[in-house]
Parts: sequence; structure tokens; C-alpha cells
Amino acid sequence: MTASRAAREPAAPDTPHDHADKRQPGLADRAAVTASGAAPEPAAPDTPDDHADKHQPGLADRAALFSVLTGGWLAQACYAITELGVPDLLAAGPRDADELAAACGADARALHRTLGALAAAGLLRRTGPRAYALTPVTRLLCSDTPRSARDTALMFGEEVHGAFGGIRHTLRTGRPAFPELAGASFYDYLGDHPQAAATFQAAMGTAAVPAALALCDLAGVRSLVDVGGGDGALLAAVLARHPEARGTLVELPQSIGPARARLTAAGCADRVDFAPGSFFEPGAVPAGADVYTLSRVLHNWDDERAGALLRVIRQAIGPDGRLLVLERLEDDGPPGGSPTARPGAAEARAKLIDLLMLVMVEGYDRTLEQYEKLLAAAGFAVRAVHTAPLRGAHAERAIEAVPVAAG
Ligand SMILES: C[S@@+](CC[C@H](N)C(=O)[O-])C[C@H]1O[C@@H](n2cnc3c(N)ncnc32)[C@H](O)[C@@H]1O
Repeated sequence: MTASRAAREPAAPDTPHDHADKRQPGLADRAAVTASGAAPEPAAPDTPDDHADKHQPGLADRAALFSVLTGGWLAQACYAITELGVPDLLAAGPRDADELAAACGADARALHRTLGALAAAGLLRRTGPRAYALTPVTRLLCSDTPRSARDTALMFGEEVHGAFGGIRHTLRTGRPAFPELAGASFYDYLGDHPQAAATFQAAMGTAAVPAALALCDLAGVRSLVDVGGGDGALLAAVLARHPEARGTLVELPQSIGPARARLTAAGCADRVDFAPGSFFEPGAVPAGADVYTLSRVLHNWDDERAGALLRVIRQAIGPDGRLLVLERLEDDGPPGGSPTARPGAAEARAKLIDLLMLVMVEGYDRTLEQYEKLLAAAGFAVRAVHTAPLRGAHAERAIEAVPVAAG
């Protein structure tokens, strides 16, 4: 939760307004609920100014820093009320803190104080001395809001919050803090914690399919294997557009159930084969498909593991097959190409996702050159790169690669 942003740019009007909490959440609300306190508006102006970093801090700078330093408190308060089900209890309209506390099993005074802090930050609307209503931002924390951020809030508040508590370990060693604290890599941990795995898959399932996929020519494709395909959203999108195609989902066993449910709901499960197991195992990826996709997968892994995965796909792919790597690319230079350009909100969120990779897993956002090198080492050549406009925090490039004969 971006405390500073929430406090300074409330998405809802800050005057009492009967319909303020009924507006449907939009992209800005989603950004407010998923960004962390580490993405304040930069204090420096966005025009070149050699002295911008030398001015003495003023009151506004102090307030901006305080917002960042306390952003984690608000984030954890959001997480806790979500875990208690408070947003769902407020979905039908404003309610009194005592009534809410009785309904969700909280201490009434503690809940009132917590809701009061969230209201003061612009995340709830106070409708009476002890009564609160949702704003469009916190409406995203309800379970039935379209593309709800509830599961993201739970995952950020639990596993991710724990890992960021260990970020000093990451900074000292360059290694992710999560495995150090949990005693297992993130995906091994999910294998042993079904509830956390379900929350993770549900959170990932709210992310839009990378827009760059639509820029790839899939006309005539008969078979597509989505490797590490999560809850099947990408397969559902492709199969809806190509009724003659079949898909295969390669995923960890714990992800297969939710994916089957989503693909069944999308009406295309009968055209999908499920391949439960680890994609690192030789033979895990079925051979001979027209297209293989890796969407937001490689950025989870260091070069050694990413290379191993690409070699498994190289073994499976036929001479006429294509591999589509869908990832956000790390920019080679500062945003906008100028050392003084102010980073946009999308850029700031993308950097936070890279930070998330740093503390949770071994991966990182790569440059195109790094992907080309990785692909070449595994026996692929890049044939095209499709670029969609950056939207949200996520990857908007499709790197199209084809197998090359071993030299
Ligand atoms: C960041 S998510 C991306 C999901 C999806 N492709 C998307 O674009 O939203 C990475 C996915 O890789 C899967 N995964 C991780 N390790 C795996 C493994 N060893 N074998 C198969 N799938 C794995 C995870 O379960 C997760 O769904």
C-alpha cells in the first residue's frame, strides 16, 4: 500500500459522498492497493536540475519520508482486516466497528483504531463516530470484486512481508531472504503449504495475460504448450481465439486443480491436457507442439535454472516449433533515456516486482541482450521481439525464438 499516494491522492473524493464507495475500482485503485510504500512520488522535479539533490530537506520531504517509513504499517493493517473479512462485511454498505468486530471475531477497540488509521489515510471512509465504508481502493479487497486484490493482499501480508523482513540478508549476500527464513525455496514451500499455494495461484490469476501475446501470429496453430502456465489464463485466451487449437498446461501438481477449474469455467478444459510435475525434469514438457509459451516464468530463476528449463523445452520442440517468452525487459538505461527523467508509476511498480524477485526467488528482470544470450546457450535464436505498451507492472514483450541446429 502506498501510504503517501493514498494520503495525497485519494482515489475517492474526500468530501462525504453517498456514492463514493460504490464506484467500481479502476486501474488507479488497483495500483494504489498493490503498490508498496516504497513508491512515493519522487521529491525531485522532472526537469534537468543539477542541484535538485542538494536542496535542504523541508517539511514536505520529511512528510514524504514518514509516509514511506510507515507505509508498511498501513499495508499490514490492510492485510489484517482483509484476513478478518472486514472488506466483505462492508461490501453492502457502512457498518459500525463494534458490529464488525462481533461479526469477524476482532477486539472492537483495536478494530476501531485500525479502521480509523486506514480512514485517515484515505483508504476507508468514515461515515459516523465509529462507522466505516469502503472506498473504491478497499473495495478491491472484497472477494467478489472483479479481479479482486484480496489474495494479493494476503500473500503480500504473509509470505512476502516475512521475506522483506529479511531483506538485510539479501543485501548482504545477494541471495533471496525467503528461503533463508522459510527453510525452503518459495515454490517448494508452496508445495508443502496448500493454503498459501491456493492464495498464490489466485493472486497470480488476477494478472492480465501479457498484452504482447496478441502481437504474435498464432494463425493456424494447432497445439500450444504453456510451461509454468499458472491457472491457465493464457491457454483460455488462446483457445477462445483459436477454436481448432489444443493446449497443454505444464504446472506443479498443486496448481493443476485451480487451473482445471478456471479452464472448465472458460469452457475449454476439454481441449487441454494437464501435465503435472516440475518443468525441470527431462521429458516434463511434451514434444512436438507448434508453439511453447513461457509467460513470466524465466524472471523467477537465475541463469543456471533458466538455462536448464530452456534446454528441457529445446529437447521437446520440433524443428518448426516456436517458443514465445513473455516478460518485461529490464531497461538498459534510465527511464525515458534521460538521467533526470522522472520515473513513471508503471516503471516504479515494475522495479518493485524486480525487488520482489530479489527477496523471494533467485530470478531477475533481464535485458533483451541477456535473454538472447540465455536462449542462444540453450539452442534458440531470437526471430522477433514484439513490444506492447507498458501497462501496469508486468511484462509487455514477446520474444519469439526458434530452435537452431546444434553447431
Ligand atoms: C510467476 S508465475 C507465472 C504464471 C503464469 N505463466 C502467468 O503468466 O501468470 C510462475 C509459475 O511457474 C510455476 N512453476 C514454478 N516452478 C515450477 C516447476 N518446477 N515446474 C512447473 N511449474 C513451476 C508456478 O507454479 C507459477 O504458476
